[in-house]
Amino acid sequence: MPRFLFDYADGGAYSEQTLHHNVADLADIALRQRVLKDVASIDLKTTLFGRQIDLPVALGPVGIAGMFARRGELQAARAAKAGGVPMCLSTVSICSIEDVSQRADPFWFQLYVIRDRDFMKDLIARAKAAGAEALIFTVDMPVPGARYRDAHSGMSGPNAPLRRVLQAIGKPIWAWDVGLWGRPHTLGNLAPVLGKDSGLNDYMGWLGRNFDPSIQWKDLDWIRQEWDGPLIIKGILDPDDAREAAAIGADGIVVSNHGGRQLDGVWSSARALPEIADAVAGKLTVLADGGVRNGLDVVRMLALGADGVLLGRAWLWALAAQGEAGVARLLQLIAAEMHVAMTLTGVNRIDEIDRSILAENNQ
Ligand code: GLV
Repeated sequence: MPRFLFDYADGGAYSEQTLHHNVADLADIALRQRVLKDVASIDLKTTLFGRQIDLPVALGPVGIAGMFARRGELQAARAAKAGGVPMCLSTVSICSIEDVSQRADPFWFQLYVIRDRDFMKDLIARAKAAGAEALIFTVDMPVPGARYRDAHSGMSGPNAPLRRVLQAIGKPIWAWDVGLWGRPHTLGNLAPVLGKDSGLNDYMGWLGRNFDPSIQWKDLDWIRQEWDGPLIIKGILDPDDAREAAAIGADGIVVSNHGGRQLDGVWSSARALPEIADAVAGKLTVLADGGVRNGLDVVRMLALGADGVLLGRAWLWALAAQGEAGVARLLQLIAAEMHVAMTLTGVNRIDEIDRSILAENNQ
């Protein structure tokens, strides 16, 4: 793929410390090996927001994922459905709510806090009409993070459009398959409102201009009124904020630092998760993301207190490598890795995974 796309996905904010810690802290969580525990009936199924799913995993929202393979979000949605897991579509996707929702099951939608409340209401109504079963409301982006790699590689900065075209010419397979046949590359959910200004050129610019830094917890009441389904607040990294989410009547949270793409220097998700999970235990469904690259990482997040895990870069790279088949293969690998991890930590069911399977807890 062209450099600008790779760096957009691979990179994080500032010097990428939090991005690095997300992966390293999670990988450092040691599992406690147990043997001869009768693990002949391992079951990876779980229930999230009233729906049984095959793995405690969902494809998390990723902006412009549709450029990583031809009409990429449609391919990912089909793989998620076949794998029995939810797909959460980003507000800033290439393919639209209407198109992706026809392929995904369960279909979730992610929404940003945008200044234009009518626009938000319209997106919520579209998600509802499309059968979305959960709304993930992202609150950790009142301003876009400073991602220096984007400016260096042509996602933003001087002559960005020209640099992107030159990079695409240097990647002829991508240029043919995705650049040419994967059009339009406008942001599918925003195109009806923004018209031709909804392309990549204005992607981060639009986000910067339209995000609303004045929003407060009490402003979320009207979202609760517009959306009567499961409401999940994404971008929680502090137990007090988790309690606030419970107080406004949310159904779930995502413990997340936005993949290390917002405020560099904050805690990794793995480090923040246990205290947050304890703070809202029994009140909220706790999802987590950040650094999950395989099935062992999923098990680690569950052991630290999550009920389910969102994948980001992991599914994006699988999509970029092999399209729908790549995402399907990723889900198979995660299931297989979880199976081994559960076998050798002595648990048969997802709800048996807790801190007792961690080595640290038992020294
Ligand atoms: C958008 O949410 C991004 O992190 O680029």
